[in-house]
Amino acid sequence: MLKRSLSASLLLAIFIAACKTQTPALKTTASVREGQGVYQFVEEDPLRKPFFSDRTGELGRNGMVASAHPAASAVGVAILKAGGNAVDAAVAVHFALAVVYPVAGNLGGGGFMVYRDKSGKAYTLDYREKAPGRASANMYLDSAGNVIPGLSISGHLASGVPGAVDGMVEIHKRFGKLSWAQVIQPAIDLANNGYALTERDATGLNRVKANLLKINPGKTYFFKTTSPADTTTWHTGDKLVQTDLAKTLQRIQQQGRAGFYEGETARLLAQEMQRGGGMITEEDLRNYHSVWRDPIQAQYKEYNIITMPPTSSGGVALVQLMRLNEPYPLRKWGWNSDSTVQVMIEAERRVYADRAKFLGDPDFVKMPLDQLMSKAYLQNRFADFSFARATDSKVVSGGAIPGYESMETTHFSIVDKDMNAVSSTTTLNGGYGSRVVVGGAGFLMNNEMDDFSVKPGVPNMFGLIGNKANAIAPNKRMLSSMTPTILEKDGKLFMVVGTPGGSTIITSVYQTILNVIEHGMTMQQSVNALKFHHQWLPDNTIFENGAFTEPIVQYLQSRGYQLEKLTNTLGRMDCVLVRPDGTLEGASDPRADNTARGY
Ligand code: GLY
Repeated sequence: MLKRSLSASLLLAIFIAACKTQTPALKTTASVREGQGVYQFVEEDPLRKPFFSDRTGELGRNGMVASAHPAASAVGVAILKAGGNAVDAAVAVHFALAVVYPVAGNLGGGGFMVYRDKSGKAYTLDYREKAPGRASANMYLDSAGNVIPGLSISGHLASGVPGAVDGMVEIHKRFGKLSWAQVIQPAIDLANNGYALTERDATGLNRVKANLLKINPGKTYFFKTTSPADTTTWHTGDKLVQTDLAKTLQRIQQQGRAGFYEGETARLLAQEMQRGGGMITEEDLRNYHSVWRDPIQAQYKEYNIITMPPTSSGGVALVQLMRLNEPYPLRKWGWNSDSTVQVMIEAERRVYADRAKFLGDPDFVKMPLDQLMSKAYLQNRFADFSFARATDSKVVSGGAIPGYESMETTHFSIVDKDMNAVSSTTTLNGGYGSRVVVGGAGFLMNNEMDDFSVKPGVPNMFGLIGNKANAIAPNKRMLSSMTPTILEKDGKLFMVVGTPGGSTIITSVYQTILNVIEHGMTMQQSVNALKFHHQWLPDNTIFENGAFTEPIVQYLQSRGYQLEKLTNTLGRMDCVLVRPDGTLEGASDPRADNTARGY
């Protein structure tokens, strides 16, 4: 359909690109079957590999949990083995991450969940934070109208009203099988008994210690180390015991939603806000409710993409990206070949410009979602694309539609024995959020207010530009990039995918899906594969070391692309693939402590 309606010039560009000799990148075998491991690395340079590591996927027949922390994945599998379904496991993993992964797991944050039940019905739950009732558009500006540096990022004023606990209550009430008490108990045990820190856990806590002490004067929380030889520095294997957090979890266990949004926890949270000049009140907490939204469902070739609608931009952007590359023979061109990369970068440039112009909280902003994802609109978005030269981001703004005026997060993917599947991404926004620990309640607050456009055209902590659609307003949700996604093939569950990474979430999910369905990688290979990212502004492409060969770098630079090789990494994917024989392949990211556990 699309091909027939493509403009002649666009068809010609695609034809020329398809015929031209490719700069050799990586050769793949001629027959590509997704997720079957037919992808073969045969590049001449033995020192360069397209993968971050050689980790292989975890296989299971009865259930799979992939999350950011081994202790949380173990909790998820224990719940499945106890007869729980994917939703029970998801709630248990969420609360476990709030204990063992304070960098992003949370009670004081928010997130999104995509759920596909065994019959194929799909649901999405939005438990994104909201601006407090007293918030205002200019709350982070000085009297001259300039952004006050750091105010939306650090400290009490940076927090939105948390949504995660309400989200867990809602999803469990509707789809859980085990009791509420049972799914929270593992988190309470981890908080009371402590858990052994990984090297990464210890390094993270040591890194933020000075800042936590500054923002939380007099609180000893997170600072009582268990090494008798050195009580001020965390070491691998030290135990982190969190008794205040355990008490908060017990209140949630006993009282459900009221254990967080009313009573003792709400009082402690509001008191903490008052102490530090924050805005959240007990009334804000009482008024918070998560929202069931209609999932975005879109066809890409033989796959059905089920993903998150706004308040996240992730789903819309993912569908736009996939549909922009659909007319091009990426499979034939190969993984990260010159033309493949060029098409993907140009798609990303345009999609992030649309994100900035159009997207925001659906309860506040009217958005042309169907048009943005329509093939006709997207075809027009690529009308000025040429393989000869990079498009200049300065001349790309959000597309014209007639009549129309965040790095630390965490993701987990779960599939149970009946093929119920959960894809959930949750966040405090920055690492350890606003760094505010709620006194007496033992949990960290988010700094999600920075995901609003605090001033039109001024980039947020991820360099993302926003506009009126994402301006601050009382009780409004801030736009997100989180992209929890599920794919079906032939009406059956095929893939569960997602990652943290702020603005890079969307492009990491995009590449991880394409790596499997176009380039024939296994789920784990796809997660391991090195990645790149472009987000319209700034107009450069960042890439993991090794993602592009030297000839590809030269090809792109000769056409005007600004490239930046990263010293760090992109994405922390946690995914599950259903192989044709029904085996589950869990793939967790080797870039951090992520762990897949199946049985
Ligand atoms: N806080 C990162 C995001 O929601 O995109």
